[in-house]
Amino acid sequence: EGQWVLMATGRSPTNIAVIKYWGKRDEALILPVNDSISVTLDPDHLSATTTVAVSPSFPSDRMWLNGQEISLSGGRFQSCLREIRKRAQDVEDEKGIRIKKEDWEKLHVHIASYNNFPTAAGLASSAAGFACLVFTLGKLMNVKEDYGELSSIARQGSGSACRSIYGGFVKWCMGKNDDGSDSIAVQLADETHWNDLVIIIAVVSSKQKETSSTSGMRDSVETSPLLQYRAQTVVPNRVLKMEEAIKSHNFESFAKLTCADSNQFHAVCLDTSPPIFYMNDTSHRIISLVEKWNHSEGTPQVAYTFDAGPNAVLIAPNRKNAALLLKKLLYCFPPQDNDLSSYMVGDKSILSD
Ligand code: PMV
Repeated sequence: EGQWVLMATGRSPTNIAVIKYWGKRDEALILPVNDSISVTLDPDHLSATTTVAVSPSFPSDRMWLNGQEISLSGGRFQSCLREIRKRAQDVEDEKGIRIKKEDWEKLHVHIASYNNFPTAAGLASSAAGFACLVFTLGKLMNVKEDYGELSSIARQGSGSACRSIYGGFVKWCMGKNDDGSDSIAVQLADETHWNDLVIIIAVVSSKQKETSSTSGMRDSVETSPLLQYRAQTVVPNRVLKMEEAIKSHNFESFAKLTCADSNQFHAVCLDTSPPIFYMNDTSHRIISLVEKWNHSEGTPQVAYTFDAGPNAVLIAPNRKNAALLLKKLLYCFPPQDNDLSSYMVGDKSILSD
């Protein structure tokens, strides 16, 4: 009966959608209006590392993010904690600590999570954070459910988090059921499948976004006629084409679909009342730079995509194009003139070439 602490640690990278999720059909369960497809980044760069501890001496659940205590009272944290606790199993560790399945209801957890990238950079962190939280709590509580089920729990923390349960290319299937049981992520291809791709994130602004994805999506669902058309007609077709492009390493098709889908998502934002502006002039200049390059070569050299903020995610088919892209970016945006700096994800050495 002495004092003991049992811990588990996990790490999850963030993911970048190439077919975007935008709009919920159920806000509480976080059920989307369309399927989406993403690529999970390599864990050395944009990831969350989370340690969860349980002890009979903890009087309440608590969480620290990057060393600062944050509230767990929000519905999203509570959903994840509740769904994992429900599935907790007997645990017996090598030191002889034994926790019975039924004890988990009474025990409290302490959670410490760190992002290995500056939170101030305005890069999405909720996807990595909630995926990691759910995965690590599941590990601590000896949860036996498969990744699909874990993804549907992570989804209730942040929609895009369900896709970070897997590496490689991932599809979040919107599902048909009202209870969300079939709104899960599936892996399309693992992280070794398309090794040559290089992802560069150009940090355009480190400011926090003005419109949260939650309120932005709500406004779009309520007011944008384009969103309805996109969800019902455009995305189902694009998802099929994107799956095919990924399967066959078809960069031309992959790049065209990725750019078109990012642009349509931002068009939906503009079609929302009041309109939402996530990209800024620098974002638009990056798009023009890439479009001009792609057009002059007659075939896509690099793809771009933007989430709910101005930062550019650029995907090159190989190191050669990634190096050329960096050269072009540094030429157009000399580092001393503005705050554009690049994060290389996948291979740091290109930055110093
Ligand atoms: O999971 P959320 O609520 O942070 O929404 C993410 C929305 C986008 O990043 C814009 C698109 C996506 O599919 O990740």
